[in-house]
Amino acid sequence: MDNFINNLLFTYLPHISMTLFWFGVITRIVKSPQSLQAESSQFLSKKGQRWGGNLFHYGILMVFIGHFTGLFTPENLYHMMMTTATKRALAITMGSIFGVSAFAGILILLIRRLKNKRLRLNSKPQDILLIVLLLVEIGLGIVSIFITAGSSIESYAELGIWAQKVITFQPDAGAVIAGHSLIYKLHIVIGLFIFMIFPYTKLMHMLVMPVAYFFRSGYQLVRRGFTKRST
Ligand code: HEM
Repeated sequence: MDNFINNLLFTYLPHISMTLFWFGVITRIVKSPQSLQAESSQFLSKKGQRWGGNLFHYGILMVFIGHFTGLFTPENLYHMMMTTATKRALAITMGSIFGVSAFAGILILLIRRLKNKRLRLNSKPQDILLIVLLLVEIGLGIVSIFITAGSSIESYAELGIWAQKVITFQPDAGAVIAGHSLIYKLHIVIGLFIFMIFPYTKLMHMLVMPVAYFFRSGYQLVRRGFTKRST
């Protein structure tokens, strides 16, 4: 890849993407907090929602925990507990399990949305586009596991070195992964694109739901057994 393009995409784009992400998140929370919801489609059709939703959400949550710890833990810190080879084996195993779970889940959710007429008619084009984008991103992530498994330990370690150079504003960050596979690069660029559009999509519910859950009010939990006994 051309040096200029490589630098643009892997040294500067991460910062552009995160700036747009935080700008969008803050302005949306301040300007229109009432619009922050995932607009659940469960009331339109329950079929596939439970399986698809659970597989996707548990899978993607673990994948994100894996990305965060895997990319941002400095080498000398994780070396206190394991070698780079062990860390790679762990990433391949956990990444495969949870990556495939997220992929299967989102595929079920996409099929459900397209096959059910009521659901299809109530879906905006951007709802379907977002699911397809996530499907492609997760698919590329899974393919990248095969590349990780087949390449050298140094090449795997460089992914973490790159991410840590990015967050510490090192101007040579992009150079670290210049020679890496196109699959990784596509995965990273699409991932950064997802961060850029994140504030303007349903994905915003990820940030507000966990907080809103703990501060919710006005709900009354009625347990059937308890109600029967007390009446
Ligand atoms: C810019 C942000 C991102 C970066 C730098 C990144 C980086 C990576 C890397 C290096 C791998 C390979 C790990 C390995 O082989 O062990 C990977 C795998 C994966 N990525 Fe990403 N990724 C990003 C965003 C995303 C997003 C937004 C999603 C999903 C919506 C995603 C889903 C996956 C999945 C499912 C895998 C395979 C399972 C795993 O290894 O956890 N990634 N990613």
